[in-house]
Amino acid sequence: MNPLIVNLGERSYPVFIGARAMQYLSSALESVGSGQVFVVSNPTVAPLYLPAVKTMLGNRLHGTFLMPDGEQYKTLATYTEALNAVMESGLHRDGIILALGGGVVGDLAGFVAATFQRGVRFLQVPTTLLAQVDSSVGGKTAVNHALGKNMIGAFHQPNAVVIDTTTLETLPERELKAGLAEVIKYGVIEDANFFTWLEQNMPALLQRDPEALRYAIEVSCSIKARIVSADEREQGVRALLNYGHTFGHVIESYAGYGNWLHGEAVAAGMVIASHLASAMQWCDVSDYRRIKALVEAAGLPTSAPNMQWQDWQAGLYRDKKVQNGLVRFVLPTAIGCAAITEQPIAPELLQASVAHQ
Ligand code: NAD
Ligand code: GLY
Repeated sequence: MNPLIVNLGERSYPVFIGARAMQYLSSALESVGSGQVFVVSNPTVAPLYLPAVKTMLGNRLHGTFLMPDGEQYKTLATYTEALNAVMESGLHRDGIILALGGGVVGDLAGFVAATFQRGVRFLQVPTTLLAQVDSSVGGKTAVNHALGKNMIGAFHQPNAVVIDTTTLETLPERELKAGLAEVIKYGVIEDANFFTWLEQNMPALLQRDPEALRYAIEVSCSIKARIVSADEREQGVRALLNYGHTFGHVIESYAGYGNWLHGEAVAAGMVIASHLASAMQWCDVSDYRRIKALVEAAGLPTSAPNMQWQDWQAGLYRDKKVQNGLVRFVLPTAIGCAAITEQPIAPELLQASVAHQ
């Protein structure tokens, strides 16, 4: 299998995508180089996939840490527990951290890899659709703070990513749908043909048609790889990957982490952002309608929970894209194209968009 490559000079890395791709873990390990491997997973994923990973690792397995399952555990407290386990295992600086699980495990294990002994090598084996199309590629690692999502973290690229699409067979339906939100995101911001393909193939994706899923994952990862290669540290174009997230993070944090899934909040956020774009005449109202219809077809929410305007204001100002006190929004200018706002938005337009149903 020819892996996709994320081009980042000497920090370039392969992304292996395919059914039963777990077998490529040995190729991934080869590209990473020698060293003992410490696995971070959780009690839901470990019984399903840790045995296969252990077999592939053989005597390179150094230890494991299972964090509690859930977004509410993506915290500094769990990070400390994971670090304690790594320290107690006696892993050295030439060790490798392997994340086996969804985005929560990946983000937390990545932050451990970024900080343990000032940074060790890192392998991502994502097992949710969301992690396979987004969080496992690109090197963003983080934990949440009570006051804001992903507020404590670091950029730390993995050395390889192994995406085994067959792991999606065991994924709960709600999680599959949540992952589709990030897939739709790529169509809106970057690829009109892919958006049309999604409109035509949403039923196949929801039925977990293996070929449709593989194609959607491959296109999503290629778009993400291209954007990350162009702008690793989010100085420019990478900010577009936050389409739907500015509103989504506020919803997630307001609802209490874990109550609205990340992908569900992003889905509603994408519809709100496209409503705003259409109200500001950045895009046509027909684009907004197509985005809303596709989010609906994926079985995802198209509007926020009932929130006070003050809750929105406080949350929006905590966004990582705030510059000089200005909240910047990623808005579609058409299907397949997006840009970031650089001027203040009239509060009544914002209020109307967050409140729309
Ligand atoms: P998650 O990690 O909580 O996984 C969802 C659920 O599915 C969990 O209960 C998990 O145990 C379970 N699960 C995982 N794989 C499974 C499988 N194959 N079969 C059965 N169950 C399985 O959620 P997620 O949606 O994968 O990730 C969300 C997180 O990702 C958020 O914290 C978000 O902030 C983060 N994220 C990070 C980036 C990034 O660039 N780093 C990008 C997007 C999202
Ligand atoms: N998920 C947004 C990014 O990786 O930049």
